[in-house]
Amino acid sequence: MSGDKTAATTRVLIADAVSDKGIDLLHDTPGFEVTVKTGMSADELRETIPGFDGLVVRSATKVTADVLASPGRLRVIGRAGTGVDNIDLDAATRAGVVVMNTPGGNSVAAAELTVAHLMALARNLVQANAELRAGKWERKKYVGVELDGKTLGVVGLGRIGREVARRAKGLRMEVLGFDPYVSSEVAAGFGVKVVELEELLAESDFVSLHLPLTDDTHHLIDAAAIATMRPGARLINCARGGLVDESALIDALESGQLGGAALDVFETEPPSDRRVVDHARIVATPHLGASTREAQERVGTEIAAKIRDYLQSGTILDAVNFPSIDREASATLEPIMDLAVRLGSFIGQIAPGGYKRLEVRTLGNMAEHDMRPIVMAAVKGLLDHAVAGGVSYVNALLLAKDRGITIDEGRSSEASPYSGLLRLTLETDQGTTRVAGTLLAPEQPRVVEIDGMPIESRPEGHMLMIRNRDVPGVVGKIGTILGRAGVNIAGIHLGRTGDEEGAVSIVDVDHPVPPEAIAEIESFEEITRVRSVLV
Ligand code: NAD
Ligand code: MLT
Repeated sequence: MSGDKTAATTRVLIADAVSDKGIDLLHDTPGFEVTVKTGMSADELRETIPGFDGLVVRSATKVTADVLASPGRLRVIGRAGTGVDNIDLDAATRAGVVVMNTPGGNSVAAAELTVAHLMALARNLVQANAELRAGKWERKKYVGVELDGKTLGVVGLGRIGREVARRAKGLRMEVLGFDPYVSSEVAAGFGVKVVELEELLAESDFVSLHLPLTDDTHHLIDAAAIATMRPGARLINCARGGLVDESALIDALESGQLGGAALDVFETEPPSDRRVVDHARIVATPHLGASTREAQERVGTEIAAKIRDYLQSGTILDAVNFPSIDREASATLEPIMDLAVRLGSFIGQIAPGGYKRLEVRTLGNMAEHDMRPIVMAAVKGLLDHAVAGGVSYVNALLLAKDRGITIDEGRSSEASPYSGLLRLTLETDQGTTRVAGTLLAPEQPRVVEIDGMPIESRPEGHMLMIRNRDVPGVVGKIGTILGRAGVNIAGIHLGRTGDEEGAVSIVDVDHPVPPEAIAEIESFEEITRVRSVLV
């Protein structure tokens, strides 16, 4: 998507350990310079990132609002992994920084670790191994349970939860699932019976968590929830620390309410409360869910390619703070977004007065697309020339909201001579302006209507937009003044309503028109408005 500027050398900072293949991919991209610097303190990171266009992290680096306070040239953060809870998304969005991740790249790895924990819990593998190493031979102490026929409750039926469920079915377990956003029909497809959380907790021998940590899910498994679980049940958390109240977990293991727990993630990492590592009935790993050679190579190369594509051509894939656009859709959507930026910029410059409301409407084949990216692009165009410090697709809506501009969107079925049309209506404190645009071909954007008057003009470069009464001699007068000012006219496009009242001209010029020449044109009685426009 055009519109985001690219500096001569594109600099990417890798702040956590990612695969060499990913680093090489960026390193081998012409014009890219890669710096690998891991283990930075928050202060160091804050001071370092303004000099970089892209930042790659895993979960160790915390990209807080403070770190993003002065983002400098930073335009994208790539998370080589799934969870983005180590990145302050609001702060990134406000700073216009796209945040991308690699959903799915490590799902199998995380699911397999979960199964490993399931088996370790069932058969006391870790504890028995430790005692054997310590010279003991404890056969009676470590009698386990079979998984066959037992019930596994999977909380969160997303990518990893499903993979876990499929594997548990292979172990001949019954699988119950809870996920407010997954239907019973979909879950049945991977062998899961959907139930409410209370039923899942009450009926499961093993409970495995596979949901994100949010304000709503924080301490989802607390003392009250644990009290409703089957006595002696075992809990697995390979999702996020903070989903489980660790103190309540320790109490439940002590009392025997829970028979064991397997933890790959902790409320603080590394864990500050050693009990969650040292407890005899806990099996713990240091956040290894994604740590397989295959997963690391996959997420490392995937995030490197996404960062390269965004910084090279503006292509946004799997952004968590921007609507997801797949490669296929982006081929048709990108030209429409480019048109939207141009029309937004155009209308913003021709409309007099302070902006109050922008309405974005799509018609014909443009209405077949997701509206969000088109709206974001139009707002970016509108604010580009008005907001210091830059507007990106990502922060455009926030900046509009900050400025009290209402944004409305919709699709329209009104008849049009064009196969696809984008209409913008801008209300200001001085009135309403309307423009419409189309694509004659993917790289042929056109303004085709201004305030109801048909016209055909390419919204690009320096222009004068002139509103006048439709009387003879106007074009001649404009030409004379521009000639005297030494401004070359590259093209003139005229639109009219058909009565004497309404006419509009767009004059393409090679250079900006000096203010005196604009004032002279404006002084003619038949000319009602002149605007200098740069798109
Ligand atoms: P996902 O987005 O594909 O799935 C998460 C699911 O949780 C979604 O289906 C969602 O509807 C569901 N959900 C949301 N709120 C819920 C709630 N209150 N109750 C029940 N379900 C709810 O994510 P994923 O890729 O499957 O990842 C799952 C978790 O695993 C995430 O927290 C992720 O960060 C973590 N993860 C950990 C590791 C690791 O190294 N241990 C590796 C990868 C992912
Ligand atoms: C993730 O969310 O992808 C994980 O926490 C894995 C990781 O970054 O190692």
